[in-house]
Amino acid sequence: MKGLVVLVVLSMLCGFGTSKECTNTPTQLSSHTFRYALLSSENETWKEEMFAHYHLTPTDDSAWANLLPRKILREEDEYSWAMMYRNLKSPLKSSGNFLKEVSLHNVRLDPSSIHWQAQQTNLEYLLMLDVDSLVWSFRKTAGLSSPGTAYGGWEAPNSELRGHFVGHYLSASAQMWASTRNDTIEKKMSAVVSALSACQVKMGSGYLSAFPSELFDRFEAIKPVWAPYYTIHKILAGLLDQYTLADNAQALKMAKWMVDYFYNRVRNVIINYSVERHYLSLNEETGGMNDVLYKLFSITGDPKHLVLAHLFDKPCFLGLLAVQADDISGFHANTHIPIVIGAQMRYEITGDPLYKDIGTSFMDIVNSSHSYATGGTSVGEFWSDPKRLATTLHTENEESCTTYNMLKVSRHLFRWTKEMAYADYYERALTNGVLGIQRGTEPGVMIYMLPQHPGSSKGKSYHGWGTLYDSFWCCYGTGIESFSKLGDSIYFEEEGEAPGLYIIQYISSSLDWKSGQIVINQKVDPVVSSDPYLRVTLTFSPNEGSSQASTLNLRIPSLDTFRWCYRNNKLPEFGYTSSR
Ligand SMILES: *[C@@H]1O[C@H](CO)[C@@H](O)[C@H](O)[C@H]1NC(C)=O
Ligand SMILES: *[C@@H]1O[C@H](CO)[C@@H](O)[C@H](O)[C@H]1NC(C)=O
Ligand SMILES: *[C@@H]1O[C@H](CO)[C@@H](O)[C@H](O)[C@H]1NC(C)=O
Ligand SMILES: *[C@@H]1O[C@H](CO)[C@@H](O)[C@H](O)[C@H]1NC(C)=O
Repeated sequence: MKGLVVLVVLSMLCGFGTSKECTNTPTQLSSHTFRYALLSSENETWKEEMFAHYHLTPTDDSAWANLLPRKILREEDEYSWAMMYRNLKSPLKSSGNFLKEVSLHNVRLDPSSIHWQAQQTNLEYLLMLDVDSLVWSFRKTAGLSSPGTAYGGWEAPNSELRGHFVGHYLSASAQMWASTRNDTIEKKMSAVVSALSACQVKMGSGYLSAFPSELFDRFEAIKPVWAPYYTIHKILAGLLDQYTLADNAQALKMAKWMVDYFYNRVRNVIINYSVERHYLSLNEETGGMNDVLYKLFSITGDPKHLVLAHLFDKPCFLGLLAVQADDISGFHANTHIPIVIGAQMRYEITGDPLYKDIGTSFMDIVNSSHSYATGGTSVGEFWSDPKRLATTLHTENEESCTTYNMLKVSRHLFRWTKEMAYADYYERALTNGVLGIQRGTEPGVMIYMLPQHPGSSKGKSYHGWGTLYDSFWCCYGTGIESFSKLGDSIYFEEEGEAPGLYIIQYISSSLDWKSGQIVINQKVDPVVSSDPYLRVTLTFSPNEGSSQASTLNLRIPSLDTFRWCYRNNKLPEFGYTSSR
């Protein structure tokens, strides 16, 4: 009798010990780099060994234990499902007076700038990519004929991440089109959207992906699979960018139909199992599913989109940030930064200040305890112990897609607070962690990591420089986006009777500022170390007949410049000419 009681207690302990875990991977080794190597290996012994560590799979016992209560409590389950979101049918409108982004359509980089050169290099790469090759696996999956040849690397027909880059391509090409109005890129991106639409129609359920839906069966069963929602996020985000930046109404329809499909999938998991099971499945990387669903909700106003967005706010990670605990070490960085960006979108859409605080404390944590002098973060794709970065300097630092995502975090914070520290951060991370990841003016050659070890070379890391058609790492996806939106975050506007303009980056460019009825030209002299000044000339040309009053706000860059000025008893000087 006694023995029996002990046994029961023991098995309960074990059950609890293994069923609740907040991570995104069962072992520290499971970076993307590792998983690509594992999944493409022919060593079955190794695979079996690694997958045996996958300890999140429920035991037969726990599956059985779930069965009976589920049948009895079914109606109550559905009731609590409904109750959970009872407040969310009419979300609060955000009351914040946020700075507004100016459209990429209205900003032009100056051909004399390195930013324009980087954009041009990227445009050339986007134009080199072939539509049939990009959509090859989508057509295959839909059962359509697939002319041409598939690409390699992470887009190869046997890669579980295939299609992710195509989602990024949709975003990058929409941004590039807005930034350049290059007709050739417009034709190309429209062709990709049409080809994907044909695949979605052929499959008929709303599902749209380059891999079969079987990967989601594994995801929901907590079995090994490589981040299927990560890719779905990229495709949805790409379709929304095609809609918002290029007016492609078809792309919005496709996104809504896709989301209907995934709404039903998640709903079935919750009905058949529980919401806990769904949250457990989020330990596998889901990209910015919450972010893109909040954005979709802001367009459609459909409460289903809001509910699904909430369900991708990973509670066990955001909870840590809500209590402002620096407990992010051991987490895969690029899995979790997008979840924070989604939480920031939740604040913008619902006005719930908790999500503002989450974004703010996350930035504090990363900036104060997990960042290199370059502004970048992460080592071997993960966060390490806070304030112990000196021991992490080697070749696998600062994964470039994490920089792309941290820029989004700081951009939100700047728009909400107008605090210059966030704009300083943006400049530093952009200059060191984005501009430096292309190899000169060679289209399609970028890096994955930015080595921080003294004396190390950029090209000498595990991945080194990528190739045009056989890499397609996560950082290629974010790379083509970064270089398509270099005109972003230079200018922000503030609405009001006298509209305000904020110039926060000094990059040679022009802005056709619609609400200020003025064209602004910014010319930045090349920086040289012998000259302590950053020289910027701003020229204003008001539109014909304009009498619009407006305010101009300029960022005084970098603490160091400021300190230098103080030391020399000088204030920063501004030189400008105005025709007004
Ligand atoms: C396959 O993997 C096992 C386990 O990691 C390892 O011991 C073995 O050497 C590998 N075999 C080959 C041929 O690489
Ligand atoms: C698009 O950009 C490419 C690369 O710079 C250029 O060769 C081409 O002429 C441009 N096409 C159009 C229609 O502007
Ligand atoms: C879950 O339930 C739905 C119907 O509610 C059913 O169609 C589906 O096959 C079930 N899925 C699983 C994994 O049991
Ligand atoms: C990041 O940390 C640096 C150094 O402590 C500080 O000067 C800067 O203001 C911080 N930036 C943000 C955005 O918190």
